[in-house]
Amino acid sequence: MKRVLEPEVMESRLESEAFDEYQKKTMYYWWPQIKKFLRMFEIKSSHKILDVAAGPANFAIELSKQYKAKVIATDLSNEMLILAKQNVRAANASKLVKIVKDDAKNMHFKSNSFDFVFCRYTLHQIPNPLLALNEMWRVTKPRGKIFVYDLVRPKNNIELKQSLSNVEKLYKEEKIKLWRVMLNAAADSLSAGLAENEVMKLLKKSNISNFKITFENGTFRSYRLIATKK
Ligand SMILES: C[S@@+](CC[C@H](N)C(=O)[O-])C[C@H]1O[C@@H](n2cnc3c(N)ncnc32)[C@H](O)[C@@H]1O
Repeated sequence: MKRVLEPEVMESRLESEAFDEYQKKTMYYWWPQIKKFLRMFEIKSSHKILDVAAGPANFAIELSKQYKAKVIATDLSNEMLILAKQNVRAANASKLVKIVKDDAKNMHFKSNSFDFVFCRYTLHQIPNPLLALNEMWRVTKPRGKIFVYDLVRPKNNIELKQSLSNVEKLYKEEKIKLWRVMLNAAADSLSAGLAENEVMKLLKKSNISNFKITFENGTFRSYRLIATKK
């Protein structure tokens, strides 16, 4: 399958609300998987964490609760930022989680500012993900770590249909009210993802050194990228 780009920023209110509902209802499912990886990052409460393109920021809130650490959550979508701020208030997390409008491709943060940079399911949205990857690396402190994960574009229509059928099952099991909106978004995102060889090429081109990447089959195929800055 060829890569078909989707709109980079999720500006629609309906899509943002659907995404918020989805993050909340499936947190119990995703968070234990993320936590397994987080153990190797040795995050401390004194660390500064960045959640790049956090959407409604439910994962940023979990990160702050888990480590009692300060988290900055960014996004470019005004609708996502509104929901993120509401979620932070509702979780009573305003002391630790700050919501900031920022472009992942050209961040306003100084170089070497964060101990841990987290980015989940976003690179596929960005036409030139190299810019975002290099920015994440730039803002990571020496000895800091990044954890990026994202979906892999299916090889063909059969794989695409299978992945969509898996996500539809998940949305229905979790009683996602806006499951149709999510299913359309998933179809667009899977088509906009990078293929495995494109992910590897991207990493070779990037400034990131010292990385480990794993590809996994699940509801859909995805990759986990871990790197420590020297
Ligand atoms: C699929 S959502 C993922 C949200 C969240 N990271 C998660 O794992 O649930 C992708 C998010 O990336 C945001 N986004 C896309 N391009 C961006 C950019 N250049 N800078 C900041 N945010 C961006 C979108 O607005 C959207 O909220």
